[in-house]
Amino acid sequence: MIRLHHVHKEFRSRQGTLQALDDVNLFIRRGEFVTIMGPSGSGKSTLLSIIGLLNSPSGGRLEIEGMDTYHLAERQKTRLRAEKFGFVFQFPSLVNTLTIRENVLLPIMLAGQARRTDWERADRLLEQVGLKEHANRRSHELSGGEQRRVALARALINNPDVILADEPTGALDEETADRILRLLHEYNGQGKTILIVTHDPDIAAYGDHTIRIHRGRIQNEQSAGGDQSATGQAD
Ligand SMILES: Nc1ncnc2c1ncn2[C@@H]1O[C@H](COP(=O)(O)OP(=O)(O)O)[C@@H](O)[C@H]1O
Ligand SMILES: [Mg+2]
Repeated sequence: MIRLHHVHKEFRSRQGTLQALDDVNLFIRRGEFVTIMGPSGSGKSTLLSIIGLLNSPSGGRLEIEGMDTYHLAERQKTRLRAEKFGFVFQFPSLVNTLTIRENVLLPIMLAGQARRTDWERADRLLEQVGLKEHANRRSHELSGGEQRRVALARALINNPDVILADEPTGALDEETADRILRLLHEYNGQGKTILIVTHDPDIAAYGDHTIRIHRGRIQNEQSAGGDQSATGQAD
């Protein structure tokens, strides 16, 4: 369960203050498939980064599994982030000097030593994204679409409860996009919560709920079953 309660986010610069998120209230249940849509600059990536503990709200509260994250120390946040969330970034950056398999294992290697079972899991994930035969190649040898699939495998390596994907199918060919979506659906079927930023109405139609955001404010909600959980008031 993820809950945002009157969350706002401002970025300050010499030009002034930019309000990236404005009084966002959200309630996301475990196992939901939520799509986030909105124009460029409307706050979608900021919203994902706050939910994933990569960024702190300027005000308001973020609760994860009933726990208010405000009082967590940086170390606790880092741990919670690593345990709970898998990120597929809009512009995934792979490490060129590592192999594809090592890139997938990176979250584990950063936390300690990768074990044999981790290597096996990495290979299984690479198989799922259709890149098993590339496991020993370096990332710069891959196409953009292939790199995106490596990034997805990397996001899944820790078996996260929540997958945060920022335009994971943007600028990809249809086949690769379908493959990524199918995999996200499969994970959703296993009870994982999926939050995906997309411009594609077809992808949004897949989800349980679509959150529409405009200038940092949540506009409305469409829900498949007519219930209001995605934007239900936090109180
Ligand atoms: N780190 C930052 N510093 C300053 N402004 C930022 C930062 N991140 C995002 N913004 C601004 O906040 C607004 C929302 O950005 P973002 O969440 O990236 O939008 P979206 O993902 O919907 O395109 C934009 O105006 C953007 O320029
Ligand atoms: Mg963005």
